[in-house]
Order: sequence, then C-alpha cells, then structure tokens
Amino acid sequence: MQIIMQPIGVIHSPFTEKNQTPIQASRSQATGTVEIAPEFLDGLQDLEGFSHVFLLYVFHCSSGYSLRVKPFLDHKERGLFATRYPCRPNPIGISVVRLLSRKENILTIEGVDVLDNTPLLDIKPYVPDFDVRRDVRVGWYETRSKE
Ligand SMILES: C[S@@+](CC[C@H](N)C(=O)[O-])C[C@H]1O[C@@H](n2cnc3c(N)ncnc32)[C@H](O)[C@@H]1O
Repeated sequence: MQIIMQPIGVIHSPFTEKNQTPIQASRSQATGTVEIAPEFLDGLQDLEGFSHVFLLYVFHCSSGYSLRVKPFLDHKERGLFATRYPCRPNPIGISVVRLLSRKENILTIEGVDVLDNTPLLDIKPYVPDFDVRRDVRVGWYETRSKE
C-alpha cells in the first residue's frame, strides 16, 4: 500500500542546522510560526481555545534509516522504534507545542524543535484527559547514561 499525503502547511522555525535544533519541544523555548494553507483556514476555528497542540510533520531533511540508533539522549544503541530519532522508514515527527496565538492562518507557537520549512501533515489539540497517562514506564530513558 502506498499512502500519499499533502502537507497542510509549513512550520517556520529559527533553526536551519540540525545540530543547533533542540532535541525535544519540551526542552525548547524557541518560538516559531505555523503557516496553514488558506484552503484549511476554516478547520482552525476553535483551536485558539487550546494552550497546546500536537504538530505532526515530515522530517524532510532526513534520509535513510537504521533499525539500531544511538538516541540523542543516550550513548547506547537502541531499536529505532524505541526512540524519537528523525531518520525513520516513514520520517514522521510529533511535537507538543504551546499555542501562543492565531491570526487567520498563522499560528505562533513556543517549543519549536524542528528545522525551518518543515512540512506540516496535521494539527491536533493536546487534551490532558486523552493524552496524559499515569503509571508509565519509560524504558531506556529512565536508566540512560546522563548527558
Ligand atoms: C529527536 S527529533 C524529535 C522531534 C519530535 N519532537 C519527535 O519526537 O518526533 C528532533 C531533531 O530532529 C532533527 N530535525 C528537526 N527537524 C528536522 C527536519 N525537518 N528534517 C530532518 N531532521 C530534523 C533535529 O536534529 C532535531 O534536533
């Protein structure tokens, strides 16, 4: 099966180099904007009621992948799917960012961890009742070799 998707917009970020880009949104205070294509404007109604949103996007500057990688926050190799590494068979990224404001089709966000011009696939509201779990295990991340 092939899946063909069209970006709904683009993420504008201050970052143009991978190695200068924050490794997670929760560790970033950088602001940026999300420009949604005008034909999707109506779908943004009510979004500003949410303080945080999920951005789903394509790591458009990654190429290839390995099934074993050293995550950014560890020195040991781990299975790719047990990491948030950007080089993946389907290079899809996900970030929870703070929604600072919306003006028409432009969202201003805080917590940017992507490169400038990253193509956006979808936006969803962050809802703690749906998205926060208690009693979690975090695998290698808990016992990682400290930075
Ligand atoms: C570890 S990933 C985590 C991203 C996201 N929060 C996730 O969990 O899917 C973040 C890193 O991916 C790289 N990156 C960001 N945007 C990218 C893009 N558009 N193409 C390729 N690599 C990108 C940068 O090196 C950045 O530090």
